[in-house]
Amino acid sequence: MPSIVVVGANWGDEGKGRIVDFLAADASASIRFQGGNNAGHTVVNDFGTFKLHQLPSGIFNPDCTAVLGPGMVISPAALTEEIAEVKAAGVSVKLHISDRATLCLPLHALEDTLEEERLGDGAYGSTRQGIAPAYGDRVMKKGILVGWLMQPEVLLERIKFMLDWKMPQLKALYPSCDFSQSAEEMTAWLLEVSAPWREFICNVTEPLKVMQSNNASLLFEAQLGAGRDLVYGEYPWTTSSNVTAAYAGIGSGLPALRPERIIAVAKSFSSSVGTGTLVTAMEEQDNFRETSNEYGATTGRPRDMGYFDAVATRNGVELQAATEIALTKIDCLTGMTDLKICVSYEGEHTQNPIWPQTAALSPVYEQMQGWSEDITGCRTFESLPEAAQHYVLRIEALMGVTISMVSVGPEREQMILR
Ligand code: GTP
Repeated sequence: MPSIVVVGANWGDEGKGRIVDFLAADASASIRFQGGNNAGHTVVNDFGTFKLHQLPSGIFNPDCTAVLGPGMVISPAALTEEIAEVKAAGVSVKLHISDRATLCLPLHALEDTLEEERLGDGAYGSTRQGIAPAYGDRVMKKGILVGWLMQPEVLLERIKFMLDWKMPQLKALYPSCDFSQSAEEMTAWLLEVSAPWREFICNVTEPLKVMQSNNASLLFEAQLGAGRDLVYGEYPWTTSSNVTAAYAGIGSGLPALRPERIIAVAKSFSSSVGTGTLVTAMEEQDNFRETSNEYGATTGRPRDMGYFDAVATRNGVELQAATEIALTKIDCLTGMTDLKICVSYEGEHTQNPIWPQTAALSPVYEQMQGWSEDITGCRTFESLPEAAQHYVLRIEALMGVTISMVSVGPEREQMILR
């Protein structure tokens, strides 16, 4: 059985959650390998509609173990709430949480917020969940590991060490910082809030290796997309972790992983939330944003809307080393009279392999034929209107990678397999 990695080809919000939910029917484990409470994976299935922030999207399959990998930063109170929410919907939760993952504390969320406020107009567009400070502490060797929740004395000692280092800096940089929780109070709070899931903390490598040796199918789920990768994205408008398929093994506890399939999820048009450059931005965005429901799943922020950017998406597909593509939200293009694809850029940096970082680029478009039929009920490629088939095939040719899945709606079964 294959290992499948599901990643984003664009800037995130491509619909990875619904693709993982679809594939999880055959998976023994569904694994998140980076990021944290800033994700917003929307899943619509028989249990209801969910915006998953930390739990992997395969959580709904009762035979599938959900794994929070060591590459994640975990917000403890939010995790407790999220587990309660899915349990209340009748989902039976099978969970492993990596002892090597890093805790993302309320102090990190405060730090994130204070820094965004300090930056004002130059802010990164953070979700303010504390993700960057939590990863930053990890890199500075001041991070608080999930595994220390099992060793309260070590936990207290490490929190003291972190606060001694961090608090003078915060007070100096942000005069309005009024954080006053002591190390003892923070330790007590952490032990209380993690009580519902502490028993699931373990070295996740061990159960995953057992599954691998039993030839089980493992499903790895990234957050965000290639354009937001810490190393290869549009720095500094990136996230604070590696969202690429190459990191799936490291971030999940199986560093020697060689996945058989890497599915890059790409949206049929381009959109982006947060700061950065969207080369194919539409002149009039409001109607299309409304009909395609393009608002950030975590923050509700309106996304910038653009035509399909084949240059950026191909960069993403190559960066992800994708073996195939899942194309989502093609139903949102129904009725669009001015349908086009950006096939190249004109201007500075045209040949630059790094993601575009200047607004000096202008898109070169290829006009496509639109369609007006409702395609949300289509379940075979041939049943799509010819113009929609051409649109998919043209993108496939520009990407140089097979489009194996085309989704025509948010619900689990609204999927065309090719
Ligand atoms: P991030 O990790 O935060 O980037 O999330 P994601 O890639 O899982 O995507 P997200 O759930 O934020 O956004 C996708 C949105 O599109 C959700 O509201 C989905 O329900 C919806 N969606 C996914 N596929 C389709 C589709 O084919 N058609 C339509 N109409 N909506 C879709």
